[in-house]
Amino acid sequence: MTDPEPAPVPATPLPVTARAPGKCILFGEHGVVRGTPELLFALDLETQVVVQAAEHTQLNGHGDAATAPGYFRTALEEMWALGRPLAVRTTSRVPRRSGLGSSAAFVAALAAGLGAATGGIDRPTLARRSFGIEQHAQGIGSPGDTTASVAGGYVALNDASGTELWTLEDGQIQWTARRIPDPGWIWVVAYSGIPRAAPEAIRSVRERLEQPDGPELLRQFEAVARAGIRALLREDREEVGARLTENHRVLREVGVSHPRLEALLEAARPSMIGGKLTGAGRGGSIVALPFPGRELELARRIARAGGVPYIVRPSSRGASLVAPEQ
Ligand code: PMV
Repeated sequence: MTDPEPAPVPATPLPVTARAPGKCILFGEHGVVRGTPELLFALDLETQVVVQAAEHTQLNGHGDAATAPGYFRTALEEMWALGRPLAVRTTSRVPRRSGLGSSAAFVAALAAGLGAATGGIDRPTLARRSFGIEQHAQGIGSPGDTTASVAGGYVALNDASGTELWTLEDGQIQWTARRIPDPGWIWVVAYSGIPRAAPEAIRSVRERLEQPDGPELLRQFEAVARAGIRALLREDREEVGARLTENHRVLREVGVSHPRLEALLEAARPSMIGGKLTGAGRGGSIVALPFPGRELELARRIARAGGVPYIVRPSSRGASLVAPEQ
């Protein structure tokens, strides 16, 4: 069971160890940047960060990370002016630049650790700060990824279904995050081995949506995400599978598929009800809904086609502290 209202992160003195999951987008990536609905779940692949006092601020032993533009500097400078040097070490099971939320997991775990070390932090604030860090460092995007990493479980943005968790905004668009119950299904996600380039893909889709048929494409993103969320709530696998495949067609139409992603989906087809690319695209990963009991067969097909498959269950645990060993 996923807690509909995840608990605050309690105040904890340094050193602090925190963790957060990666994410998989089922419906609505790209459209969500414009405020249409999205459905994601937190992956059972996590990133862990250890935050401790130090003589010089460092990330994984490198002092440069504290001054180079990026998530780490933004977290330290923009969100937490701690006024004391910190050494942060990370370990992660989320493949980098795969579209599976490695940056969101790092940001959410780091924000949970820094929040704990500065008197504790409630979930909505943790979600807003994590989004703020990503926005500041990346300059573009939606709060979907960081919301899933902070909340755990299944989360929908900008759909009326489910229990409200929090709202987020970037000054122009507002997103409402809601908890969606976990139907208990097993998924297969697979990395193509081609790093995805999120900001470039997001910008190219933005240009595509400014073409004359842009409003119609955005309407299709919205319709397929709403129908997919309804189908998941009804636990209707066939319909969810059909909507995944339909969502993929819209993503292909806006130009973010890749021959390797198409090859992986083709290889998966006999063992899956439906599937699509997941994340920004042009590389990155796919997600497939297997026929029940055929998860391993599906993973094997994908591996034979050159992908790196993961058989995953959504993690109900969002960003959280790891208790120190006694
Ligand atoms: O590939 P990722 O994990 O960065 O996912 C990007 C999802 C987009 O909708 C394309 C952008 C966003 O910020 O929501």
